[in-house]
Amino acid sequence: MKQSILSSVVLGVLAWWGGLSVIAEDRYLYFTWEITNGTIYPLGFPQPGILINGQFPGPTIEAITNDNIVVNVINKLEEKFLITWSGIKQRRTSWEDGVLGTNCPIPPNSNWTYKFQVKDQVGTYTYFPSTKIHKAGGGFGGFNVAQRSVISIPYPEPDAEFTLLIGDWYKTDHRVLRRLLDIGKSLPNPDSLLINGQQNGAVFSGLAGKTYKLRVSNVGLSTSFNFRIQGHDLKLIEVEGAHTIMESYNSLDVHVGQSVTVLVTLHGPTSDYAIIASTRFTGPSVLTSTATLRYAGSNTKAPIPLPQGPPTNDVQWSMEQARSIRLNLTANAARPNPQGSFHYGTIPVVRTLLLANSKAIIDGKLRYAVNGISHVNPNTPLKLADWFNIPGVFDLHTIKDVPPSSPTLAKLGTSVIGFTLHDFAEIVFQNNENYIQSWHMDGSSFYVVGYDNGLWTPDARKTYNLIDGVTRHTVQVYPNSWSAILVSLDNKGMWNLRSAIWERRYLGEELYLRVWNNEQSVYTEALVPPNELYCGKAKHLPKS
Ligand SMILES: *[C@@H]1O[C@H](CO)[C@@H](O)[C@H](O)[C@H]1NC(C)=O
Ligand SMILES: *[C@@H]1O[C@H](CO)[C@@H](O)[C@H](O)[C@H]1NC(C)=O
Ligand SMILES: *[C@@H]1O[C@H](CO)[C@@H](O)[C@H](O)[C@H]1NC(C)=O
Repeated sequence: MKQSILSSVVLGVLAWWGGLSVIAEDRYLYFTWEITNGTIYPLGFPQPGILINGQFPGPTIEAITNDNIVVNVINKLEEKFLITWSGIKQRRTSWEDGVLGTNCPIPPNSNWTYKFQVKDQVGTYTYFPSTKIHKAGGGFGGFNVAQRSVISIPYPEPDAEFTLLIGDWYKTDHRVLRRLLDIGKSLPNPDSLLINGQQNGAVFSGLAGKTYKLRVSNVGLSTSFNFRIQGHDLKLIEVEGAHTIMESYNSLDVHVGQSVTVLVTLHGPTSDYAIIASTRFTGPSVLTSTATLRYAGSNTKAPIPLPQGPPTNDVQWSMEQARSIRLNLTANAARPNPQGSFHYGTIPVVRTLLLANSKAIIDGKLRYAVNGISHVNPNTPLKLADWFNIPGVFDLHTIKDVPPSSPTLAKLGTSVIGFTLHDFAEIVFQNNENYIQSWHMDGSSFYVVGYDNGLWTPDARKTYNLIDGVTRHTVQVYPNSWSAILVSLDNKGMWNLRSAIWERRYLGEELYLRVWNNEQSVYTEALVPPNELYCGKAKHLPKS
């Protein structure tokens, strides 16, 4: 008896960390992050911002595959707050995902400690606030996961690396922006693009002849950008954890929520060179920001004129580039086996979702919907309701697998789609709006198998890339176009599938995937963490 209690305690502790594979050799990285309201000057004048330990952007996490990450988040804001770890798969533990469907938000003047493992992952990721539109005030940062020393990477070890967080930015207080959305209006156009929190000032210094790894992420709210460096090619090596065929590009489009990693060799004459980001698909008003790539010893300013990106509204250019990004099937990922050993193109699809986004007016206010449902987060996190069988929080019939056949008015609802653990699914994102979309999935990465204009039909499957589509966690959907993904739902939990365009997500363009089986086992899902916060209908549950 004693022994079985002991072993269940041990199992519980291990499960808390995401599985039995946590053994002593995996490192622990501990962070204490104080989240405060402060004054920042990204555009040269003061504005309120959200700081982490006094920093904007927040600190970069530098991890190695399989590290255990412990982050005690102390919320000193006047509002509830959560951080989500974008692209970190949270294997078997959606408990640590930090979105309102999985976690109670951290109340003001209190703290909560995230504990998770970056299991079997390598690559460039980010974190950011998932609550309200706090992301418009800061609270975001880089999350880099390096390969373990025993794993070879498909390119020569670079001499150093830089993290570039690029995103659109407003001079307006994030609370004022939120109020606009709350009264049913749209956000205005952003005022600027920032590179590491500055409009034009960031400098990256290197030595002539050396090769640098640049980790570039779109941490913005709504705008795709094109990224380029004067006089230097970008050799693409990774997107969101997948090693790509190493093609060289003059410039790369990066959509909201996405990350790309490139190698840049300093082969030019000693000088400064401009690093440029300019907005895409924004009509005539293109925002451009620059940073500087400075060769050691340079006293020459970056030459004028700056190289131009593709025409801002050129969808075909971007789509063709997206199709050219492919998985290197023979490269290792986080484990020493080829990425192509999982033959995704030969696995039968058990279920297809066709998800269409739309703009709607509900009760006189602007909303966004998926398949006619504009998602509302209940006060009780979906994951807690599911785990403790709390009725009346969600059901699996609110949102359908396909858009309504006749154009109906969208309505409010709580969107959860139920899957069985290990289902292999096809998800088609159909965008009938004249506005680019960016869709992000928590908990799994997926294979992007196709992009095209117009309406998706089953015939489109003949055009899918079933061989070397890249895996990622965020996919763009061009205006009046579709994008298709295949995903193996191997991670049990409640997972957010959301628009990475923040206005749309805040106003309902998101849903959850419940990945489930009836077997209760810490081998498939971790137990509720001992420090879990309880709220809503779960508020009075006994603490474990
Ligand atoms: C946070 O910032 C806003 C705007 O600058 C200010 O009105 C408010 O008093 C600040 N709150 C705290 C607790 O510093
Ligand atoms: C809050 O922080 C304290 C340390 O300052 C820590 O002991 C405690 O576990 C944290 N609470 C939660 C719920 O993580
Ligand atoms: C793919 O990865 C292999 C193995 O690491 C590497 O040798 C090769 O150069 C890569 N191929 C391309 C085209 O990037």
